[in-house]
Amino acid sequence: MEYVVLNGEIIERYQAKIDVEDRGYQFGDGVYEVIRVYNGIMFTGREHLERLVSSAEKIGMKLGWTIEELESLFNTLIKKNGIGTGIVYMQVTRGTSPRNHAFPPAGVSQTLVAYTRDMQRPMNNLANGVKTILAEDIRWLRCDIKSLNLLGNILAKQKAAEAGCYEAFLHRGETITEGSSSNIFIIKDGTVYTHPANNFILNGITRQTLEKLCKANGVPFVEKEFTTADLLAADEIAIGSTTSEITPAVEVDGQPVGNGEPGPVTRKLQTLFQQEIERQCGTLAVNS
Ligand SMILES: Cc1ncc(COP(=O)(O)O)c(C=O)c1O
Repeated sequence: MEYVVLNGEIIERYQAKIDVEDRGYQFGDGVYEVIRVYNGIMFTGREHLERLVSSAEKIGMKLGWTIEELESLFNTLIKKNGIGTGIVYMQVTRGTSPRNHAFPPAGVSQTLVAYTRDMQRPMNNLANGVKTILAEDIRWLRCDIKSLNLLGNILAKQKAAEAGCYEAFLHRGETITEGSSSNIFIIKDGTVYTHPANNFILNGITRQTLEKLCKANGVPFVEKEFTTADLLAADEIAIGSTTSEITPAVEVDGQPVGNGEPGPVTRKLQTLFQQEIERQCGTLAVNS
């Protein structure tokens, strides 16, 4: 039996029904999060839930549930679904109301949906790295909001998939912003560079965790814009996201990154990241 969260209740998946005029369905009018689960424990759960609250505020929604309520619901859901290594997905929309672009009248309740999924760690990608392409960043100017509207991201990811690649690195003009579903780190002469946390990128929780780990462990970490040329000339490139963790990128548009193998700084970042996972969630099995 699989359970899901619908508006504060945990019910069987097939019983969950959403109205055809839910604003998430019609407009993408809502926000979402994906939280990693290791050993049945949410990794950086607080940080994700705080970002959910903040994304909601940025689109004029005061969340109808507290962080504590959400934490408790998702912990129960993880247990009921028996998730060891996986994810919790959650989204909150502005609710159901007759179609009209302007916000619905006061009193319309938000719709909260959450489900879990078993998902192993991407061990092969973590070990060997992935291929990537460059794609134009055609998204809106509030990429800091984790909004349900993902068309720009989806089109870029599809372009990568059609090229047999894992990720698309987005650029606005010459500036690299982020990946279609990840943040990007380039490494040059031992320093890690990433795009500043402003409206052009989602400030990833993985990115924030990595920044803290670098600062605590003497790895130079600089938030600074860099260009496509800088990316192509990098010694190493790493991709960061909840599901990808710290994945080496070994090729961009068919050209090898550095010597075409994951480099030593990326390996160090992976080690620091895994130690942090184990600190929060307990020892990880070798292959999961
Ligand atoms: C556009 C974008 N940037 C960055 C990230 C990484 O964010 P996080 O580390 O919080 O998963 C994601 C994750 O899905 C994303 O979709």
